[in-house]
Amino acid sequence: MNIFDEIESEVQSYARSFPRLFNRAKGEFLYDEEGNEYLDFLAGAGTLNYGHNNDLFKKELLAYIEADGISHGLDLHTRAKEYFLDTLNEKILKPRGLEYVVQFTGPTGTNAVEAALKLARNVTGRENVVSFTNGFHGVSLGALATTGNSHHRGASGVSLSGSSRMPYDGYLGDGIDTTAYFDKVLSDSSSGIDAPAAVIVETVQGEGGINAASFEWLRNLEAVCRKHDVLLIVDDIQSGCGRTGTFFSFEEAGIKPDIVTMSKSLSGYGLPFAVVLIRPELDQWKPGEHNGTFRGNNMAFVTAAAAIDNYWSNDEFAKQVQAKGRYISSRLEAITSKYGDGSFSPRGRGMMQGIYCVNGTLAGKITRKAFAKSLMIETSGADNQVVKFLCPLTISEENLKRGIDIVEQAIAEVCAEQGDIPSEVDFFEDDYNIPAEERFSKAG
Ligand SMILES: Cc1ncc(COP(=O)(O)O)c(C=O)c1O
Repeated sequence: MNIFDEIESEVQSYARSFPRLFNRAKGEFLYDEEGNEYLDFLAGAGTLNYGHNNDLFKKELLAYIEADGISHGLDLHTRAKEYFLDTLNEKILKPRGLEYVVQFTGPTGTNAVEAALKLARNVTGRENVVSFTNGFHGVSLGALATTGNSHHRGASGVSLSGSSRMPYDGYLGDGIDTTAYFDKVLSDSSSGIDAPAAVIVETVQGEGGINAASFEWLRNLEAVCRKHDVLLIVDDIQSGCGRTGTFFSFEEAGIKPDIVTMSKSLSGYGLPFAVVLIRPELDQWKPGEHNGTFRGNNMAFVTAAAAIDNYWSNDEFAKQVQAKGRYISSRLEAITSKYGDGSFSPRGRGMMQGIYCVNGTLAGKITRKAFAKSLMIETSGADNQVVKFLCPLTISEENLKRGIDIVEQAIAEVCAEQGDIPSEVDFFEDDYNIPAEERFSKAG
């Protein structure tokens, strides 16, 4: 029995999908103990937008460590923090006409979400926060209350309160603008929805199955928030840092959130790091009111600033990401129409795209076959039914093509083995043969 089976908790998840002993990683590749190479289309679940051990940041980090730079400083002012704030302000915020103050929270995404929710509630004096069907915002209790997934919610052990759910864009089918429903319930004092402090939304839902909201829907959502005096929080933890083709995922929609949460790829190097960006008038925290030992990671300040300096000083990188995004779209459209018949459909935006399969069993077969061909790719969605393409943004064009080719091959093999894959219609018909109690207990 290995040490992982012996003493590591059962709570492991990714390790179950990719049961190898990894010990090295570079760029878009991971290597196991035997020296086998794996192309990484998982990228730390969106944490490694600039690849593994990016040399541009590694040299800065090594120099910082060599010079005995502060490694931990609570929330003290340090040179590294000063440089990060300056770089973020000058190269990201000001050029986009965004005026935010920066709150350093504990280093994970869910820490940033907790802080954002708490601030919105304190500032408005209201408790309710509206979140969306299939949204994922983390698994600490406050964030979990705004998360949809029943698997995660089921583990909370307490009632999850303070949040109400609204249908995300597309949830009720094409052509239905769900923000009209939101506007209606906020306009109706008997709707049963308490006046919310805030809305928290992902512009592209990552864990919820790569659902991309349209720019129009996002603009309508912002308008409803403004009309009803509700704060707009964009959770850019997974879709930010260039993933959709711009630094912030909301830029193309032309909206200006009141609060933005960021983590994952912010440090650029996989180092834990999270911030909340806050419209200055809303920064009503009292000193130390929301604290934590690991607020701001000095090593992450170094690599995060290097990431901005190297990739976001002009729009060259964004253009490359957008071009790769267009390539992914064209490939996924071709693959899904070739093997389609209602079984597969493409979704997503930029380099955050996926192939929706009729069910999680099918998607799981595809990702397992891909791994046997040395591609690491995961699924997401309520039933894990979406094969999720999340490779580093810095991936070479050749390796991007190679990874997508592997998925295509995996799909071809699964289709050949299975014969006819059930179409979407068959799948739902099958589902309706299941007794109602069982059907609803499956819902995410
Ligand atoms: C949009 C979004 N918000 C919050 C989180 C939670 O981040 P963490 O897992 O670092 O707590 C995630 C994680 O996947 C996420 O995708």
